[in-house]
Amino acid sequence: MGRVSKSRIPLLLLLLAFCFFCFNSVAADNPNFACDLVSNPGLSAFGFCNTSWTVEARARDLVQRLTLAEKIGFLGHVTAAVVRLGIPSYNWWSEALHGVSYVGGGSRFSSLIPGATSFPQVILTAASFNVSLFRAIGKAVSTEARAMHNVGQAGLTFWSPNINVFRDPRWGRGQETPGEDPLLGGKYAVGFVQGLQDNVDDPVRLKVAACCKHYTAYDLDNWKGVQRYTFNAVVTEQDMADTFQPPFKSCVSNGVACAMCSYNQVNGVPACADGGLLAGVIRGDWKLNGYIVSDCDSVDVIYNQQKYTKTPEDAAAITIKAGLDLDCGSFLPSHTLAAVQGGKVTEAQVDNAITNSFVVLMRLGFFDGDPRNLAPYGKLGPKDVCTPENQELARDAARQGIVLLKNFDDALPLNASAIKSLALIGPNANATRTMIGNYEGVPCNYTSPLQALSAVVTTIYEPGCATVKCSPNDLHLDGAKIAAARADVTVIVVGGDLSVEAEALDRENLLYPGEQGTLINEVAKVAKGPVILVIMSGGPFQIKQDKFNEKISSILWSGYPGEAGGAALADIIFGRYNPSGRTPFTWYDQEYVEQVPMTDMRMRPDPASNYPGRTYRFYTGDPTYEFGYGLSYTRFYHNLVKAPEKLSIALEEGHPCYSEGCNSVDLSGSAHCSGLQFDVHLQVRNSDGMAGRHTVLLFNTPPAVHKSPRKQLVGFEKVFLEPNESKNVVFQVDACRDLSVADESGNWKVPLGSHVLHVGDVTHTLTLSI
Ligand SMILES: *[C@@H]1O[C@H](CO)[C@@H](O)[C@H](O)[C@H]1NC(C)=O
Ligand SMILES: *[C@@H]1O[C@H](CO)[C@@H](O)[C@H](O)[C@H]1NC(C)=O
Ligand SMILES: *[C@@H]1O[C@H](CO)[C@@H](O)[C@H](O)[C@H]1NC(C)=O
Ligand SMILES: *[C@@H]1O[C@H](CO)[C@@H](O)[C@H](O)[C@H]1NC(C)=O
Ligand SMILES: *[C@@H]1O[C@H](CO)[C@@H](O)[C@H](O)[C@H]1NC(C)=O
Ligand SMILES: *[C@@H]1O[C@H](CO)[C@@H](O)[C@H](O)[C@H]1NC(C)=O
Repeated sequence: MGRVSKSRIPLLLLLLAFCFFCFNSVAADNPNFACDLVSNPGLSAFGFCNTSWTVEARARDLVQRLTLAEKIGFLGHVTAAVVRLGIPSYNWWSEALHGVSYVGGGSRFSSLIPGATSFPQVILTAASFNVSLFRAIGKAVSTEARAMHNVGQAGLTFWSPNINVFRDPRWGRGQETPGEDPLLGGKYAVGFVQGLQDNVDDPVRLKVAACCKHYTAYDLDNWKGVQRYTFNAVVTEQDMADTFQPPFKSCVSNGVACAMCSYNQVNGVPACADGGLLAGVIRGDWKLNGYIVSDCDSVDVIYNQQKYTKTPEDAAAITIKAGLDLDCGSFLPSHTLAAVQGGKVTEAQVDNAITNSFVVLMRLGFFDGDPRNLAPYGKLGPKDVCTPENQELARDAARQGIVLLKNFDDALPLNASAIKSLALIGPNANATRTMIGNYEGVPCNYTSPLQALSAVVTTIYEPGCATVKCSPNDLHLDGAKIAAARADVTVIVVGGDLSVEAEALDRENLLYPGEQGTLINEVAKVAKGPVILVIMSGGPFQIKQDKFNEKISSILWSGYPGEAGGAALADIIFGRYNPSGRTPFTWYDQEYVEQVPMTDMRMRPDPASNYPGRTYRFYTGDPTYEFGYGLSYTRFYHNLVKAPEKLSIALEEGHPCYSEGCNSVDLSGSAHCSGLQFDVHLQVRNSDGMAGRHTVLLFNTPPAVHKSPRKQLVGFEKVFLEPNESKNVVFQVDACRDLSVADESGNWKVPLGSHVLHVGDVTHTLTLSI
């Protein structure tokens, strides 16, 4: 998303000016709600208003009542009213990445509802590894969205979540994603989308419609002059199968109502014009029950920037034929009529596209009259937004995600009653706006680190640098050093903000911006007490030097922690909450980005060219902190109670592997999988005097065939343990689903031989044979 809001501003203004004119001239007739039978009983004759019909029949009825020109109008995200049929105008573009947002214009804030709960940016929520939390946030957001919709402040179609794999640490939008692991990404997508969409009354109905984006292989915005609009992502079939497809497959096959195609090309074909990916995979293989929307102006980009088609009509035709249903922008409304008249796309194909979109609106109750009369969400209103419960959930989400990376000598938690003064240093120490990242709304309230820490102990605030860019002129070491030398403890809050990592802004290196590194070192050197370093950022920095700096006792990573981020940090720093977050990405050193161009999509290492591979699944180097790493204030022990040592696959005599021997077998869709489910049974014990949550991550190292990952997450569970308590954790593993690997052509195979399962420092070898 983005182009409409940036380069398209004049066009949008024009559009708004035009609509202002058109609303004014027909204002009396422009309906408030579709199928408003109370104020217009004549509409009850229309089948599309008849709630006893199926949503599909209603959508078909509506489509056959429209003229071709009207139909084509419904291919763009801002649709005009059809007064004749009692249909109001609608803006499809709303966002709710981590709270209802004003981005897109379909939702807005006013004096009636001035703000909405702003949850942590997704990268931090993902670090909680708690699927119930993903769902709980989605549910709270959709309740606030419905409440806003009922008073005319929000749409019903939200283009969230962003589930692209965080492939490269420099990506400015990594903060929006659930991190670098495809399994975690898929679980995040399913949990959050269910929370947004699930309607308590009826599975056909939607509370609001979510959208998984950006399909696919999109994770470069603007790096050294390479732009997402024209970037051709060259992706192998193997990487496509086991890295880029899985989160989207989970999302779509578990019922999301929308998928968005991305700006970039994939192997030479614009993603939004790729019939194999859209009609073939998303709608065909994964059975999307919903609509496919373009990223904003991406159809325009195909013609004007990529020069992929000779004419604008050709761009309209190829995207519709590829399976695109809705254009974020006005390119399809402008050029599809000529495409139909020129025989490049048929009216039936246009009908098909808008029917997919209308079915979703039907499921949302858009065609059921006044939403305030519609059960079960009609009674929601301003009182249901920014409730104490939702704001507490925002704080809890931040606590659940924050990762303790280093804690030398158990410097944390701090004992508040033993501390007379705390020095608070760093450009993010009094962060407010920075805490909510991008795709933001107006939060209910902020609690900055300064506010939250100073509520507990006497705090001397000396930022040292006013902004994260921290130029040499901006660096004011003296006050910061004096404060640190006097105080009993020093907390330094550094990191990024949207001026260094954002949409349309990738980083070029992993070093702290400007003089922040100097600030950390100089302050740590003179500090009297323990030094707690807090990194507030969406992506990783090189922090090896801080890990090995003996003057730095503890390191916390807080992501962009949302409106209550300061309170959550104080909860952790003062031991009111025992941290349990795990890093959702690898912490590389600067050397990594000097070695690896961001444009190289390959996940797997290539020793011949010194290419080290990407993410914990393939990276051959030594990261400062690995994906899944995170400490607690207590020690947890794992014990393997039960897991099989051998599994054998029964193949019939005619099978090629039976006679020749194989290093892997293709069991896709076969009956052979039926005997291959088993439980991994663990006992987890909290050995210390403090209650806490523990994140249990089950990894598998498959046999080294087909350039398989060195390690792959198979499952995760989060458990709460009282002091000294033990609990059982059982993972249900299906060898076909969980232990298979994608081969060089992207086909899933079960490798034979030794699979090493690991949880923490417990390892278990499982041998698969025929
Ligand atoms: C709605 O559809 C049902 C089933 O087709 C039909 O019996 C009913 O008369 C329709 N309602 C109206 C108001 O036309
Ligand atoms: C997971 O999140 C849910 C929802 O916020 C919360 O109730 C639950 O306690 C969390 N689980 C653990 C183990 O912390
Ligand atoms: C915290 O500090 C106070 C005052 O020094 C002390 O009495 C108390 O025992 C300490 N608490 C812990 C848990 O160490
Ligand atoms: C902290 O930030 C808030 C919000 O931007 C601002 O009003 C306040 O003055 C800042 N506090 C200090 C001590 O600078
Ligand atoms: C906003 O947050 C601050 C700091 O946590 C708190 O003191 C204040 O009461 C909150 N305001 C509202 C309106 O909730
Ligand atoms: C935990 O167990 C140890 C050893 O069995 C015991 O000494 C300690 O008192 C227990 N702690 C709690 C909080 O129950």
